[in-house]
Amino acid sequence: MTSIKTAIVTGAAKGIGKAICERLLNDGFRVIAVDVDEQAGAELLSSLQGKAIEFKKTNISNEQEVQQLFAEVNLKFDSVDAVVNNAGIIRDNMIWKMSVEDFDAVINVNLKGTWLMCRAAAMLMKEQHSGRIVNIASRAWLGNRGQSNYSASKAGVVALTRVLALELGKYQVSVNTVAPGLIDTPLTQKLEPAVLQKLIDAQPSKSMGSPNDVANTVAFLVSPATQFITGQTIYVDGGKSIGANM
Ligand SMILES: NC(=O)c1ccc[n+]([C@@H]2O[C@H](COP(=O)([O-])OP(=O)(O)OC[C@H]3O[C@@H](n4cnc5c(N)ncnc54)[C@H](O)[C@@H]3O)[C@@H](O)[C@H]2O)c1
Repeated sequence: MTSIKTAIVTGAAKGIGKAICERLLNDGFRVIAVDVDEQAGAELLSSLQGKAIEFKKTNISNEQEVQQLFAEVNLKFDSVDAVVNNAGIIRDNMIWKMSVEDFDAVINVNLKGTWLMCRAAAMLMKEQHSGRIVNIASRAWLGNRGQSNYSASKAGVVALTRVLALELGKYQVSVNTVAPGLIDTPLTQKLEPAVLQKLIDAQPSKSMGSPNDVANTVAFLVSPATQFITGQTIYVDGGKSIGANM
């Protein structure tokens, strides 16, 4: 008898995270949806009533909260088979206008939070001798004006993924990065329409991606077919990463 697999997804209440939850549920995973936004978490659960999903309010940049999350999940389920680190924030500005608070906020969630989640996942998966970690970075790690904090945080996530692939390979744990480009989510819906149109015009595809485009790639990376893929960065960006300054 094969037992049902368990996946933890962060930033799960909205946008890309929500699409990842839906896709993994459809693929037969039990999903632990993690977010700081309790109200959006409740809305997620009510939209997925009857499915194998539960919500855990956790701030991924808080060490104790992350430890508690993994302790609870570990106690309740046989294994943690996949951890998808998707939670992330932006606080954009040119560096000469950027506050230290905005730098710290982005690094704390995007890099330190992802690192804390990866460390907790690594401790568990190393003992299990199995597991998949997928970190959601961004095409912006290559460099985006106005995003010195965000691009640096996501470059850190790419490096973190590569190191963990080396450290965890012999324990049959794979670690990969998905780097989305412009995706239609609550995060990008906050942009000024003129700014958003400019970004769309700069896309080779002349379009935005959908959260499902990212979710499909995550599903591929946690599927049994891809055990031998590790340490890689897969772009889901309509070709934007091919040219630097289009
Ligand atoms: N939307 C895009 O165009 C795009 C492009 C590239 C990369 N990304 C990345 O994809 C990921 C998801 O982006 P999105 O557009 O769906 O964002 P979103 O703002 O729509 O959703 C992010 C979710 O993360 C949660 N979150 C924020 N801080 C958290 C914390 N400390 N702990 C737990 N949860 C927290 C939020 O409450 C929210 O529900 C992010 O890492 C983002 O950087 C997005």
